[in-house]
Amino acid sequence: MAGRERETAAFEARVARTREGQPQHTALLGEWAIGKTTLLMHWRRLRQQAGDAVVLSMAYPQSADEFLAGLVTAIDAELGTDWPRRLDVELGVDIGIADARFRRTAPNSERELRAALRRLVEHRADEDRSVVVLLDDVDLLRETGDVLLRLRACALELYAADLPLAFIVAASPGLFTEVRSAHEPLVRFFEPLTVGPLDDSDAARALAEPLAETTVRFDPDVVAEIVDLAGGRPYYLQKLGYYTFDAAGNGRVTQAEFAVAFERAFASVSQEIFAARWAGMSPIDRQVVAVVARSTEPRPSGDIEAEAARRGVRPGAARQSLRRLASKGQIDRLANGHRGRYEVRDRLFKRYLELQTCEP
Ligand SMILES: Nc1ncnc2c1ncn2[C@@H]1O[C@H](COP(=O)(O)OP(=O)(O)OP(=O)(O)O)[C@@H](O)[C@H]1O
Ligand SMILES: [Mg+2]
Repeated sequence: MAGRERETAAFEARVARTREGQPQHTALLGEWAIGKTTLLMHWRRLRQQAGDAVVLSMAYPQSADEFLAGLVTAIDAELGTDWPRRLDVELGVDIGIADARFRRTAPNSERELRAALRRLVEHRADEDRSVVVLLDDVDLLRETGDVLLRLRACALELYAADLPLAFIVAASPGLFTEVRSAHEPLVRFFEPLTVGPLDDSDAARALAEPLAETTVRFDPDVVAEIVDLAGGRPYYLQKLGYYTFDAAGNGRVTQAEFAVAFERAFASVSQEIFAARWAGMSPIDRQVVAVVARSTEPRPSGDIEAEAARRGVRPGAARQSLRRLASKGQIDRLANGHRGRYEVRDRLFKRYLELQTCEP
């Protein structure tokens, strides 16, 4: 766990205000594999150590009622009062989560949720503790906006009863654009907290600290190159670090070993992530993303459209494609007034695209 002091301080401040009677709820927003789940688990540990009641639950592509019923189960398991159900949850982990998830689908899941939250809060109330409910991947739900509105209704009702409860929901940055109709009240209720790439010194620490417990050492220029290639993405740091560690000959990694390790790490990320991403792109998106990736610096949209046009893509279609690719986080847009410039900042993905689309 490297960095994240700013995010954690913000989280702690919000929980403290909640305890003091001003509940603050959070939407933790971040790109794929940036470290949302890791952060939620870190926060769970911190709050549990402080004596709070903490529930962490994951969303799946399921209905609102199924999700809320699953949450009630998780709350009762935390309370530990309902042994048969607790057993279900624990067994569920072993025999396949699905079983525990779908066992109970209550007809009135919202009322049940309110009652369960109330039990949880009251259980702790006399000890001056709060209740923290962490919900991961809420944008995977089939009716995300509906679920968020119902959570909000529950929280407001408990607030009226002066019960200290904070919701933290985690999702990709597009969360609030996807739940458009309910957008405004939700943004005010679930205050956004963005988790982004690690800065260079934190990224270097993420490599150095685990290494310090081993006999392997990476040369400083190798560390610098990994940090640079990863662009603060913890998943890339992990992949590159893993294969580099694996390539250590006699406890030391120089540029020569790193060159081999890089190819292995790159192949692994390509297979896990890029292949499916490429397969999911339309022919137009492929043309446009290739044009963006070929450039060594951010390019104005007009330039990109002109080059795409030479490859048979209409300018209107190219413009839409740029917007779509940027909203999915596959390319980066540098805002500059109305005229945006685009680039592929992710160096591994850029390389994948170059290899994918290089002309014979
Ligand atoms: N701050 C950190 N320091 C070191 N490693 C981290 C950090 N944050 C995340 N990681 C590592 O990066 C990987 C991706 O993190 P995680 O699964 O938490 O991301 P996520 O945002 O939840 O991704 P997803 O979009 O898949 O849900 C994990 O293997 C995790 O161990
Ligand atoms: Mg996650």
